[in-house]
Amino acid sequence: MYGQKSHSIHAAHHIYGPVVRIAPNTLSFSRPAAVRDIYTSKTKFVKEESFYRAKRIFHENHLLSFRDPEAHHQRRKLLSRGFSQAVLVEFEPNIISKIDTLLDQWSALTSETPVIDVYPWVHMLGFDTIYNLMFDVDPGTLKSGKEHTIMPWLRSWRPTYIYKELFPSLETYGPYVPGFIGGYFRDVQKWKEFAVEVIESCRATGTKTPFLSKVLHDDDSFLGRPLAASELAEECMGGMFGGSGTTATTFVYLLWAVLQRPDVVQKLQSELDAAFPDNQPPDSVTCGKLPYLQAVLNETLRVYPATIAVLPRTATVDTIVDGIPVPRGTNVATQNLTIHRDPQTFQNPDSFIPERWIEGNNTQMKEGLTPFSVGPRKCIGSNLAEMELRLLISAFFLRFEASIDSSMKDSDMMMYDTFNMSPIGKKLQLVLKERR
Ligand code: HEM
Repeated sequence: MYGQKSHSIHAAHHIYGPVVRIAPNTLSFSRPAAVRDIYTSKTKFVKEESFYRAKRIFHENHLLSFRDPEAHHQRRKLLSRGFSQAVLVEFEPNIISKIDTLLDQWSALTSETPVIDVYPWVHMLGFDTIYNLMFDVDPGTLKSGKEHTIMPWLRSWRPTYIYKELFPSLETYGPYVPGFIGGYFRDVQKWKEFAVEVIESCRATGTKTPFLSKVLHDDDSFLGRPLAASELAEECMGGMFGGSGTTATTFVYLLWAVLQRPDVVQKLQSELDAAFPDNQPPDSVTCGKLPYLQAVLNETLRVYPATIAVLPRTATVDTIVDGIPVPRGTNVATQNLTIHRDPQTFQNPDSFIPERWIEGNNTQMKEGLTPFSVGPRKCIGSNLAEMELRLLISAFFLRFEASIDSSMKDSDMMMYDTFNMSPIGKKLQLVLKERR
């Protein structure tokens, strides 16, 4: 069934064991040892061509889609300055004020309606945060409660990469295809034009955005020149896609899992009440030291990994993966859905048990938790995502008593896989009450 590829591969591993052929030239591995073998090597594997070529957004490579290791390495060196610890510290007040706006909106809504669908709101938070980081402008969707013009264009990218993987020539001809399929490509084209305009105006006005100020004028050492506006636009678009929906999905599933467990809510709130007494607002330094908060976040990232699917790589040499000989040219992959449920690493792997991260020796589990991947292609935004999520979880559970509305069904939250994952129902209806 469409959107269930990772579940089918997971089921196949249950039947056939740790290595499964999922396409004529592609092997899926199920054990954490394979993750290390495949993704930490700088030379033995490159990103698989058709999957990642389709991930170019509009005609150019960006960090996620690069296949050439050296081109990627130099681009990553340039861009990672925009995600440094110093940038995050500087940017934290922007995140906190957006979370406050979000929770104020929910508080106001509770007096108008007994049930709130938090799903679109959490996506607006993810969007406003990344947009602000990239362009130094608050797009204000949370304040208005209305979608920004480019949000539907951003959503259109997902179908385009699925179509492009099947029909690569759509990268060129997509916008000219009539009907709704071409419509997705035309949306992405409009999104790119919008992003290029913003970059050009940032260049003209000498923007001070923490992200762009680091990359607007410096050379990309691989290219030997600064990035063109269209290349930078592509990076910002990639960041918007990689950084908004993933964080939002993680928080939505965290609410879903935690609110079904009064014991977990109680432990989390006790820890937060003790850390932030007298209405003290949460800050990232204190949040980063709270073990139960981190345990709840780890367990959510484990059971509901926003990047759920296989991340294919091609062997550049004859090599070994998890003890199995792999000839040069073979495609190999692991998927977090399966790695995170490895029964040797996680007892009761299908159950949501935050305590597993606190009790006993959890070194092996930490190695088996790879929501952001590992190695040279691991997520560049993982620190930002974790900081944003810790602040949001803390602010939410300090402020609200919440419950899941009885209209919600398990089937609404089925994990739908299109590279990044989201709940199939695209909603989470909650009943909220202020605590403090
Ligand atoms: C919970 C949130 C997030 C999750 C689960 C997540 C997960 C991942 C994973 C698994 C990869 C590797 C993909 C691959 O190998 O194909 C990745 C790469 C990437 N992520 Fe994230 N991500 C998150 C948040 C963010 C944020 C906030 C940003 C910020 C803009 C971001 C930007 C990127 C970029 C640019 C890459 C490509 C890195 C490279 O190839 O060098 N992600 N992410």
